[in-house]
Amino acid sequence: MTLYVPRDALARALGADRVAEAARAHAAARGLPLRLVRNGSRGMAWLEPLAEIEIDGVRHAFGPLSPGDMPALLDDPASHPRALGPTEAIPFLARQTRLTFARVGVIDPLDLDAYAAQGGLAGLRRALLLAPEARIEEIKQSGLRGRGGAGFPTGIKWATVAAAPGPRKYVVCNADEGDSGTFADRMLMEGDPFCLIEGMAICGLSVGATRGYIYIRSEYPDAIATMEEAIRIARHRGLLGPSLLGQGPAFDLEVRVGAGAYVCGEETSLLNSLEGKRGTVRAKPPLPALQGLFGRPTVVNNVISLATVPWIMTHGAAAYRDFGLGRSRGTIPLQIAGNVRHGGLFETAFGLSLREIVEDIAGGTASGRPVKAVQVGGPLGAYFPPSLFDTPFGYEEFDGAGGLIGHAGVVVFDDTADMLEQARFAMEFCAVESCGKCTPCRLGAVRGVETIDRLRAGDPDALPLLRDLCETMKLGSLCALGGFTPFPVMSAVTHWPEEFDRARVAAE
Ligand SMILES: Cc1cc2nc3c(=O)[nH]c(=O)nc-3n(C[C@H](O)[C@H](O)[C@H](O)COP(=O)(O)O)c2cc1C
Ligand code: SF4
Repeated sequence: MTLYVPRDALARALGADRVAEAARAHAAARGLPLRLVRNGSRGMAWLEPLAEIEIDGVRHAFGPLSPGDMPALLDDPASHPRALGPTEAIPFLARQTRLTFARVGVIDPLDLDAYAAQGGLAGLRRALLLAPEARIEEIKQSGLRGRGGAGFPTGIKWATVAAAPGPRKYVVCNADEGDSGTFADRMLMEGDPFCLIEGMAICGLSVGATRGYIYIRSEYPDAIATMEEAIRIARHRGLLGPSLLGQGPAFDLEVRVGAGAYVCGEETSLLNSLEGKRGTVRAKPPLPALQGLFGRPTVVNNVISLATVPWIMTHGAAAYRDFGLGRSRGTIPLQIAGNVRHGGLFETAFGLSLREIVEDIAGGTASGRPVKAVQVGGPLGAYFPPSLFDTPFGYEEFDGAGGLIGHAGVVVFDDTADMLEQARFAMEFCAVESCGKCTPCRLGAVRGVETIDRLRAGDPDALPLLRDLCETMKLGSLCALGGFTPFPVMSAVTHWPEEFDRARVAAE
């Protein structure tokens, strides 16, 4: 019998290790031949720990499990009360288009042979056969845009670095994943680390870089350990090192661990941190593509951007471009969290409406109460009211509705949410996380908290002041931390004005 139990941090936090151990102990006691595979997570958070058993070549899911479920499960899987049927037929999974996450939850993340058997390394092998310009053209034509938040076209960034003069260039993977409610980078690194390695290798090959760094937040110990082990295996097997797959130029990788600052996800702050300096934002220009790490031309890309590259190289730009909406091409791994029945990772082509995501896919709130607001794009993203739920998921579409998709975190709140409190939290977060380099953010965020407190106390002058302050932060901040904090604040003021007025009325 082959049993799959995830080794992903979410599954482990919910008891997957104890479930695996109980299965091992029962099989040993009964003399059952058991092949235990520790895979990544399938991304259905409410079903973890979710185990799978292969029956007649089809994987069947069981969950959520506790160690006590394992003896009966191994003895008679078919009639187990936690049986969910064939895994791929579970509606949450069946409705997805998994390109970037095709192998996550399917294979043992550290089994390079399983990776190759499931289509891994085909992208790098093809890239090695292409001329340098053709590789970058493929990424440009795919329409891939950065999944870290800004949505900048990946191919154009690579072309800038490739064209920049200089003997040494770098590839830096941004795995700081600081946005609230997001976990796609973590799941990818823990579930399919070779995919990120392959994407970075293709990037290095395309731009002429021989060294890459993966900057991972310290709060991700499992992802750090998995990436480090995968790099060691990749080196040992000749994927990385003096010659990519023994056919290409040199390329090697190192993991670097952040120290817990949200602003170190901002690319220039991240580069300072990588160089061992304080994580403050650098003024642009110069662009990191021209003067990045140690002053050299550097590609900084998000985990998902880089991990999508192997699929594009394998299947071709046109196949990727076929998915999506408008200028948002391909797929996006939505991360559904907060007060929802069905939270988790849902990879889909751009274009679903927020209503479909919240009501159909997430199944509404866990509390059973009406949805009041959805914050999309992390702590700098706007709050959407139900009246805007028809907005399709796409960069331009969200921008047009006064929001942003950021790293595609979707956090749901029910009708008990206090929007004035949420607005205050946005300012407070900015005040705590500000790198301090520019005045509108460093002082503005502190004044923002004070102004919202005045508003709550009934000061009639506070609201115009808050609007003015938000305008100053938006226009005058050096980076998007100060510049985008007004989005959650002003979206709360715009869509729930009564909550900001209530205090004033009460005081009168
Ligand atoms: C305050 C702040 C935090 C950010 N945090 C992240 C992050 O955690 N991960 C990420 O990939 N990009 C983050 N970004 C965006 C990066 O600056 C940069 O745009 C991105 O890494 C580029 O990669 P991409 O083009 O693949 O998206 C952040 C930006 C700002 C302003
Ligand atoms: S906006 Fe804030 S985080 Fe960004 S540079 Fe200015 S002070 Fe630093």
